[in-house]
Amino acid sequence: MQTILITGGAGFIGSHLTRLFVTKYPDYTIVNLDALTYAGNLNNLRDIENAPNYTFVKGDITDMKFLQDLFVQYQFTGVLHCAAESHVDRSITDPLAFVKTNVMGTATLLQVAKEAWKGDHDNKVFYHISTDEVYGSLGEEGFFYEDTAYDPRSPYSASKASSDHFVRAYYHTYKLPVKISNCSNNYGPYHFPEKLIPLSINNIINNTPLPVYGKGENVRDWLYVVDHVRAIDTIYHHGKIGETYNIGGHNEWKNLDLIVELCRQMDKKLGREAGTSEKLISFVTDRAGHDLRYAIDATKLKDELGWMPSLQFEEGLSNTIDWYLDNKAWLEDVVNGHYKAYYEEQYNAKA
Ligand code: NAD
Ligand code: DAU
Repeated sequence: MQTILITGGAGFIGSHLTRLFVTKYPDYTIVNLDALTYAGNLNNLRDIENAPNYTFVKGDITDMKFLQDLFVQYQFTGVLHCAAESHVDRSITDPLAFVKTNVMGTATLLQVAKEAWKGDHDNKVFYHISTDEVYGSLGEEGFFYEDTAYDPRSPYSASKASSDHFVRAYYHTYKLPVKISNCSNNYGPYHFPEKLIPLSINNIINNTPLPVYGKGENVRDWLYVVDHVRAIDTIYHHGKIGETYNIGGHNEWKNLDLIVELCRQMDKKLGREAGTSEKLISFVTDRAGHDLRYAIDATKLKDELGWMPSLQFEEGLSNTIDWYLDNKAWLEDVVNGHYKAYYEEQYNAKA
C-alpha cells in the first residue's frame, strides 16, 4: 500500500505517469497536485478521473502551507515530482517564472517532505523528474552520461539544473531518499502544441507555416512518452536511492529531417499529394542560445534495471499523428483555450 503525490499530473508527461500508476497499481492511492497553469489540462485525464484510487487537487508547489497540510492529510509515502515550467522559449521571455516554479517549487516540496517524514525514510521515495538539457549542448560526437558535468545554457535548463542540485543536497545533507532521472525529448499524445512535434502536426492539419528555427540543423533525441513513464515506474520501484538515471531513445533527428518525415507521413494519412506539406516549411529566426545537440547514453538504466524503449520512432510518430487526427477536439480545445473551463465544470460544480 502506498500513497503517492504526483505533481504536475495534468501536464503532458505527468498525465501519462498518472494514468500508468492509477491503472497499474489499483492498491496505491494517487493524488495529482497541479496548479493548472496554461500547460495543465484535465482533459488529459478524462479516462481515469473517476477511478477510486485517484484524487485531483488544485494547488501550487511554491505554497508551503498548502503542501504541509496536504502531507498531513494524505501521509504520502512517495512523491513523483513532474510539475515545472517546461518550455525553453517561454524561459527566454520570462526567466523568473522558471526560477519560481522549478527552483523555489522544488526546494519547497523537498523541505515539506523532509519535515513530514521526520527522518523516518523506510519505504519512502522522493523522485525528481528532470531533463537532459542540464548537461548542456553536444557537438557532433559524444553522449551525455550520468556523470557528465552540468552545463545548462538556457534559463529553463539552468532552473532544472538548480532543482537537481537541491534534490542531491537534500540527499547528502538530510539523507532524504531521493531518485533523479534525466530524460531526452518526449513526444506522443497530449503534448501541448507549443512544442515542435504537436505544433507542426497542428499546423500541417491547418495548412499553416511550419516554423523551423535557424537552419533546422539542431539535433534532439526523441523518446515516446509512454516509454518514459515506463522507465520512471521501473526506477521508482527498483532504482537505487541517491542515484541518477539517464533515459533516452537512442533516436537522434535533425529538426529539419524530423519535420520532413512528419510531412511525409501526414501527406499519406491526409490523402494529400506527396510533397504538399513540406512546402509549408518556413525558416525563422533562431532561438537565442539554441543548444546544438542532445544525446543520452541510457546504458546504466538498461544494464541495471533492464529498461529499453519499446517503440521504434516511425511507429511512435505514426501513432502520435493518428492520435492527433482522432482527437481533433482535444487539439481545438487547447488552441482556442476552452480546456481551461473544464476544471470549473468538473470540480467546482461538484463542490
Ligand atoms: P508540461 O509543461 O506539459 O506540464 C507541467 C505541469 O506542471 C502542468 O500541468 C502545469 O499546470 C504544472 N505546474 C506548473 N507549475 C506548477 C506549480 N507551480 N505548481 C503545481 N503545478 C504546476 O511539462 P512536461 O513536458 O510534461 O514535463 C514534465 C516534467 O518533465 C518537467 O519537470 C520537465 O522538466 C521534465 N521533462 C520534460 C521533457 C519533455 O520532453 N517534455 C523531457 C525531459 C524532462
Ligand atoms: O530535451 C528535453 C527537453 O525537450 C525538455 O526538458 C523540455 O521540457 C522540452 O520542451 C524539450 O525542449 P526542446 O527545446 O528540445 O523542445 P521544443 O519542442 O521546444 O524544440 C525542439 C527543437 O525544435 C529545438 O531544437 C527547437 C526547434 N523548434 C521548436 C519549435 C517550437 C523549431 O525549430 N521550431 C519550433 O516552432
